[in-house]
Amino acid sequence: MLRLDIITVLPEMLETPLNCSILKRAQEKGLVQIHLHNLRDYSTDKRHRRVDDYPFGGQAGMVLQCEPVDRAIASLKRQRAYDEVIYTSPDGETFNQSVANQLSMGENLIILCGRYKGVDYRIREHLITREISIGDYVLTGGELAAAVIADAIVRIIPGAVGDEQSALSDSFQDRLLAPPVYTRPADYKGWKVPDVLLSGHEANIREWELRQAVERTERLRPDLL
Ligand code: ADE
Repeated sequence: MLRLDIITVLPEMLETPLNCSILKRAQEKGLVQIHLHNLRDYSTDKRHRRVDDYPFGGQAGMVLQCEPVDRAIASLKRQRAYDEVIYTSPDGETFNQSVANQLSMGENLIILCGRYKGVDYRIREHLITREISIGDYVLTGGELAAAVIADAIVRIIPGAVGDEQSALSDSFQDRLLAPPVYTRPADYKGWKVPDVLLSGHEANIREWELRQAVERTERLRPDLL
């Protein structure tokens, strides 16, 4: 079973997104365990539970200190071995379906969420094994990135999505965008569903879907081909 340990100064930012719908069900079914750890619990500053300090060099902003992060990671590593210690940061490798597929095959993963100006660079040099960005834009912290990564990883665990075929036929899973989908009614205000989908002819339907997928990928995301 996959286990995700997420270290953050804002666990409340992750509680709801990681406990709804498919992610909630996957945890209830025992397909994944997701544990949130408040970095402040690892502060040695009992009074203010401080975990950040001013950067050397005089720049603006605050930096997460080595000690609480080291203590949090060490405490987890004492309990089990981890495949990766991931740090969410805009300067990491760009997250995509292939990275999600790789990570979902792991057993134990730590995700450290960046905040403020980031974490003391020595943590990245000595403890982090993989740095991941969810895109070329800057968020207020790594929590939403961690939620995106966790969501993408968990939904492809076999059994997480009700219809097994469904997660495999997504856009990107085969480097093609998904074909259009329709549901009842077949005619809404004169807006019609393509005839082939109503034909009941399985082979023609699959062929139409593949042609649509290729045509949409060529037109919208030629870089994927
Ligand atoms: N933290 C801030 N921006 C981020 C991004 N784009 N990806 C991952 N972590 C981040």
